[in-house]
Amino acid sequence: MDDIELVKLADKARENSYTPYSHFTVGAALLTQDGTLYTGCNIENASYTPSNCAERTAIFKAVSEGQRSFSAIAIVGGREGEPAQGFCAPCGVCRQVMHEFCDLDSFRIILGTSDGSTRVFTLGELFPESFGADNIA
Ligand code: THU
Repeated sequence: MDDIELVKLADKARENSYTPYSHFTVGAALLTQDGTLYTGCNIENASYTPSNCAERTAIFKAVSEGQRSFSAIAIVGGREGEPAQGFCAPCGVCRQVMHEFCDLDSFRIILGTSDGSTRVFTLGELFPESFGADNIA
C-alpha cells in the first residue's frame, strides 16, 4: 500500500461524508501495522458539537475492531461534490486522538489532493510538545 493508493481511498471515503452544515467533505484512510485498512468520513450533527471528523471515525472504527498499532493515515478534504484541491490537515482534537495510539516519530500523516499531490508529516511534526499518557504515568 503506497501513499497514493492510501490517498485515493481517503478521497473515495469522502463520498460517504454527511455534511449538511459545512458542505466540506473529508475522508481518511488508516493503515494498521499489520496492513489492515480502515476508512472514515466526517459526520456532522444539527447540534454541531457531536460532529465527528473523518480521522477519528477511521481511528475509532479500527480501535473498536481491536486494532491499536497504526503506521499511517491519509487525509483528503474539500468542498462537497468537488475534487479536493488543497491540503486538509487534521484538527487539534484528531491530533490528540492520534497521540493516544500512534508513535510521534514514526506515524505518518499523508495530506492528499484529488489529483494525487501529497505532503507527508510525522505526528510529532504536527503535534510537538504534546500532552499524552506518558505525562500521567
Ligand atoms: N473535518 C474533518 O473531518 N477533518 C479535518 O481534518 C478537518 C475538519 C471536518 C469537520 C467538519 O465536518 C468539516 O470538516 C468542516 O470543519
